[in-house]
Amino acid sequence: MNNKKLIKIGLFGFGTVGHGLYQLLHRVPEASLVISRVCVRDVTRHQEETPELIFTSNPREVLDDPEINLIVELIDDADAAYRIVTDALRRRLPVVTGNKKMLAHHLPELIELQKEMKTPLLYDASACGSIPVIRNLEEYYDNDLQISVKGILNGSCNFILSKIFNEGMDHAESLRLARELGFLESDPTLDLDGWDSLFKLVILAMHAFGVYVEPEKVFCYGITHMNDHDIRFAREKGRRFKLLGLAEKLPDNRLTLSVLPHLISRNKFIYSCEDEFNGVVIKGLFYGKQFLVGRGAGGHPTSSAVLSDISAIRYDYFYRYKRMECAGPLPQFSNDISFRAYVRYNTEDDLDLMQFEEIYERYVSDDYHYAVGRLNLRRLLDIREHLAERKIFVAAYPPD
Ligand code: HSE
Repeated sequence: MNNKKLIKIGLFGFGTVGHGLYQLLHRVPEASLVISRVCVRDVTRHQEETPELIFTSNPREVLDDPEINLIVELIDDADAAYRIVTDALRRRLPVVTGNKKMLAHHLPELIELQKEMKTPLLYDASACGSIPVIRNLEEYYDNDLQISVKGILNGSCNFILSKIFNEGMDHAESLRLARELGFLESDPTLDLDGWDSLFKLVILAMHAFGVYVEPEKVFCYGITHMNDHDIRFAREKGRRFKLLGLAEKLPDNRLTLSVLPHLISRNKFIYSCEDEFNGVVIKGLFYGKQFLVGRGAGGHPTSSAVLSDISAIRYDYFYRYKRMECAGPLPQFSNDISFRAYVRYNTEDDLDLMQFEEIYERYVSDDYHYAVGRLNLRRLLDIREHLAERKIFVAAYPPD
């Protein structure tokens, strides 16, 4: 793209991030970007509220507009987003998207399509809001040194956990506040049950290790079933729960991915990452640990990542997926990993279901049962639905 050329954006979606982008473009007029058309479901409402923009509910009117030279896709519906993004790329229209679910399910195919069409698809806004994690993994951490990428990838859950731990707010109230502030997905179970973190983790693993792992293969468990007993347990141990996504390369070149709450002790970077902030710890040989932190949710932080991608397209930036072409063999994904966990359960039957490899500690009273021991990730993946049905709470409990 000629970097002096006026960028005329065809925007899909005018929710928290789309609207944030519109406001942001008012503040950076020198960027010579205009939103030419916006495709939304409810044209009337948006047209009344923002009369200076042209709204349509017909995607064709955006994609067929010969003036439009860049598509920004910021809708909720992953299937519709997939159709828009692939259609645009096939027309050689560069695309910026924030749709992590769509990306996590279609990355390999989208990588091929970008190559075939020689047209960029950028998506830094899809993972960790305003933190340029993907761009950093691509450009700086593009060698074999990386051991793990671990982080708070969901702003809403971190916000809720912060309100509970720091301000003693209850779950319902903190959830209401997170919704009011525009942090939650329109289906909040995506946040609370860990799926949103999982989609982001799949994207990050692709860029950090060059390996695509289908989301269905990864154990993912959120904070829905956390209760006051768990919070008290964490406080007594001087720890806090944080919902973490973890991608880790083991010494035998296996790669493991998981999303679950972790009991985090005070001496960890992530312990003091609060509210809607996301924090990503990148660990590598020779350099140890590095910590990237910033706002991970909300219209303005996320739309600033969208703006950064739009600017990158102006300068013909592509993700090159360098890790996929590294010299040695790519790591092999595996769930045959065990780790130390805290489990609050209800019946002896629940405990049997977990198939602990070892139990270090158990507590049983009338209304509170917990065990600390070693669990296997594959087993957890197999029984994930039962865990949720039985309202069992599981968290990683790493030794200090
Ligand atoms: N619901 C998401 C979050 C929005 O809370 O992190 C940003 O991806």
